[in-house]
Amino acid sequence: MSLQSEISRRKTFAVIAHPDAGKTTLTEKLLLFGGAIQTAGAVKSNKIKKGTVSDFMEIERQRGISVSTSVMGFEYRDLQINILDTPGHEDFAEDTYRTLTAVDSAIVVVDVANGVEKQTEKLTKVCRMRHTPIIFFVNKMDREGKDPFDLLDEIEQKLEVKVKPLSWPIGMGQRFKGVYDLYQKSLILFNPHGTHNEGDLIVFEDLSDPDLERYIGDTAAKELRSEVEMVETVYPSFTQEDYEQGNICPVFFGSAVNNFGVKEMLDCFVEIAPPPLSRPTEERIVDPKEEKFSGFIFKIFANMDPRHRDRIAFLRVCSGKFERNKNYRHIRLGRDMKFPNPTAFMASRKTLLEEAYPGDVIGLYDSGNFKIGDSLTEGEILHFKGLPAFSPEQFRYVENADPLKQKQFAKGLDQLMDEGVAQMFTRQSDGRRIIGTVGALQFEVIQHRLESEYSAKCRYEPVSLYKATWVHAENAADLKEFLDRRKRDIAKDKDGNWVFLAETAWVLQTVQEAFPKIEFRFTSE
Ligand code: G4P
Repeated sequence: MSLQSEISRRKTFAVIAHPDAGKTTLTEKLLLFGGAIQTAGAVKSNKIKKGTVSDFMEIERQRGISVSTSVMGFEYRDLQINILDTPGHEDFAEDTYRTLTAVDSAIVVVDVANGVEKQTEKLTKVCRMRHTPIIFFVNKMDREGKDPFDLLDEIEQKLEVKVKPLSWPIGMGQRFKGVYDLYQKSLILFNPHGTHNEGDLIVFEDLSDPDLERYIGDTAAKELRSEVEMVETVYPSFTQEDYEQGNICPVFFGSAVNNFGVKEMLDCFVEIAPPPLSRPTEERIVDPKEEKFSGFIFKIFANMDPRHRDRIAFLRVCSGKFERNKNYRHIRLGRDMKFPNPTAFMASRKTLLEEAYPGDVIGLYDSGNFKIGDSLTEGEILHFKGLPAFSPEQFRYVENADPLKQKQFAKGLDQLMDEGVAQMFTRQSDGRRIIGTVGALQFEVIQHRLESEYSAKCRYEPVSLYKATWVHAENAADLKEFLDRRKRDIAKDKDGNWVFLAETAWVLQTVQEAFPKIEFRFTSE
């Protein structure tokens, strides 16, 4: 098959949701359709469950699941579909942001009763920033929830997107009768005790057909007709272009646990979701159709097996063909590397991979050469964009708690930062190290993993900080003046970039006003 046809048969996307909306359940149903798994329950939730076992064990359990479910590939209607998993806990949101750089579209699951929740909002915002096309799946229609029109209004207002329903629910909860598929013009009837497959689909080109009453009863038929009419007048018509540019988001309704409405969404997804897209680098835009291979690392898992120092780096192929055992240039290190055991992830199976194409995600065994954001190419110097570090929200001083293990402590911290667990800043005035994270859980993760993987102990001390922002100036003299005058609040991140540590929001604001030539950035890019 030609490179072009390999590219056009791939769809790489992420399912994102606020915890409990039904991401795991939906993912599992998608894999069942693809024949990638045979039984329900095969996909484990990667949620951190509190209270059952110790948090550390939960973190390890979650990490184990995260490796095996990082990429779930399957074939459906001659297409190669790659689902990229995102962590289920909000403290790992940064990991999710990075995963979103490696997909070409996203499915957002919304619980019909809870509507738009905090994580839905945060994650959709990242998709919007990146113009990632989104499809919404409103889940749990078998339960009572919000009125569909109100829910769509809420999605539009809170998420600042425009929606277009492509299916419409007939009642909900106890009264849920099914959905009308506006895309395929057919009725799909809900049977709470049955399995749903193609047999349940009734083609219904024209809703004024009196047969509708026969299927769903007089009241529901009347309601459906008037609601569909309203949908068609209120919402714009669907165009592929608007969807691909992230300007309009199709919405489907269903019930993942009942496997209802899922196939309709999947069938529409495979038709409209974009194939692997171009990726920006600092140097130029990389087109997937280019003959030469390029890709970037967006995720690293280390030390899954305590007996080996094993790491798996996940690479998204951006252009050309990746081949096993061929030499590629590691741009940051400036040297060639080859990979005898690259891994493909087909749902729960791992297989040795001979070649991979744009849109594919491959696992590379690594002995510590990679960090997040690294690029591999056939020699051209390319730095992929869109993998920024975000300004952290919680800070603590980190100190070595065992003087005999200084070396292990330093190495452990270094590697955990490469993995993207947290960020580390070194204050220039006193050389103290400050860990910054998005959530509180990462502090526990670091302490626990330093002990179990590096035999090192750390101690945290409180530091009163509000934000760490990266600082830039057009003119080197302006930057130097700023760094000199705010000496006490200046740090360097792990890559040597200048960072301003603001104690309070007020300090940040006054400093911004006092130094108008300095740009304070909330992401490292
Ligand atoms: P998540 O990955 O987004 O966190 O959600 P997950 O799929 O784990 O689903 C969260 C809960 O919602 C699960 O129940 C799941 O069974 C339920 N659920 C998913 N889809 C539907 C649906 O369409 N209708 C209804 N009524 N429930 C749904 P749980 O009790 O937390 O777990 P379990 O014991 O059922 O596995």
